[in-house]
Amino acid sequence: MSDTARLQIGENSYEFPLVKGTENEVAINIKTLRTATNGVITIDPGYKNTGSCESAITFLDGEKGILRYRGYSIEELAEKADFLEVAFALIFGELPTKEQLEKFHKDIKSNSVVDDDIKKIVDAFPKSAHPMGILSSLTSALTAFNPSSVNVDSEEDMYNAIVKIMGKFPVLVAWTMRKKQGLPLNYGSKSLGYVENIMKMMFEQPNEDYEIDTVVKDALDKLLILHADHEQNCSTSTVRIAGSSHAGLFASLSAGISALWGPLHGGANQAVLEMLEAIKEDGGDTKKYMAKAKDKNDPFRLMGFGHRVYKNFDPRAKIIKVAADEVLNNLGIQDPILAIAKDLEQEALNDPYFVERKLYPNVDFYSGIIYRAMGIPVEMFTVMFALGRLPGWIAQWKEMRLNHEPIGRPRQIYIGENLRPFKSIENR
Ligand code: SDX
Repeated sequence: MSDTARLQIGENSYEFPLVKGTENEVAINIKTLRTATNGVITIDPGYKNTGSCESAITFLDGEKGILRYRGYSIEELAEKADFLEVAFALIFGELPTKEQLEKFHKDIKSNSVVDDDIKKIVDAFPKSAHPMGILSSLTSALTAFNPSSVNVDSEEDMYNAIVKIMGKFPVLVAWTMRKKQGLPLNYGSKSLGYVENIMKMMFEQPNEDYEIDTVVKDALDKLLILHADHEQNCSTSTVRIAGSSHAGLFASLSAGISALWGPLHGGANQAVLEMLEAIKEDGGDTKKYMAKAKDKNDPFRLMGFGHRVYKNFDPRAKIIKVAADEVLNNLGIQDPILAIAKDLEQEALNDPYFVERKLYPNVDFYSGIIYRAMGIPVEMFTVMFALGRLPGWIAQWKEMRLNHEPIGRPRQIYIGENLRPFKSIENR
């Protein structure tokens, strides 16, 4: 293959270099396009064909259903690693040694106390507030209590900001859930592992000793790993573009949380459960909802299905589907919702509308069934997605800043009015 791309516009032809990745992906580097062509740009709504950066963090192949973090397959990481190891690998590039992991966890624990005044912000929210709105606000508020901005050229500064947010974010997640449940806000215990302590902070009841259920812990570890990064998805691109203006890490993460909230993105896991509940209430009539999903005049979509990149099975959905069966069996839970989900999946996989459009279950289709089995309220499902995605957002923000990437500022094609004279109000 030639190492350039040729573009013909009218009489003129232009050459642009090709960029080739380590997995043989190819891009046309159009950095000089507008100058070389005297103003011509590209346009690509939703950036379906446009790369925003070169990244060494996550590789995914949507056609083959491949997902790797730092070169390690998601299947191996979900099976053999724990969430803190994966977080370290995403952020620092390599799986940690035993000593590195112990130090990382120790430094996180030393930075996990949140200023008590944050509780006043938590209390200011009505119980009806959606947890994603609370979490986004609290994450942004962290800036007020940790004003020192990250000097990205200082490895120590960057490391300190990372262990700070890795320590405080789970506390904000737990406090967000417990506020809505009217439970006291606590800190868990430094003697526990990272995920165990998240469970204790979230689920501990004030009048009893909290016992870690290893089935739940293993399932939560796996779910957090599966959500940890996914290259340039909507919320990660939001974190990158917010950070490209040199907004702080916590402020950039807060922007990412807001983007993740949308039902087309991370909010889908909540929407899936609500959809499955509606189908159950409707007598389990999956065919009716399949018809709605295919009806162009009906805004209803089969939530948890389809993906911008995966045009094959989302490898995470495969792992989560197996885990859902395991967790429910181990917890002795018969959830009719799981059976409805499986029926829906089977119907969609055999329906031409879905097959032609390559719509398969994505990461959000089965995850909520496990969260529900863990006793997590459905409104907290997307918060759990954010908890998993945190290390990926941090890793991507760090990579973007350390690469000194320019501020993100797309162009546009103007289609409004041409120049026209002002009209006084009497003449309008
Ligand atoms: C996540 O990007 C990531 O990596 C995201 C994520 C991550 O880890 O960060 O993987 C997490 O966000 C997973 C996706 C969760 N969202 C949902 O489950 C919501 C339901 N899915 C869709 O809204 C949709 O599939 C998207 C948003 C996920 C992808 O949309 P695209 O790529 O813009 O595709 P599209 O809307 O152009 O759809 C192509 C066709 C259209 O039909 P036609 O116009 O060609 O006739 O497929 C149809 C769509 O109407 N379609 C669906 C559908 N998804 C797409 N029809 C019914 N139900 C659906 N779910």
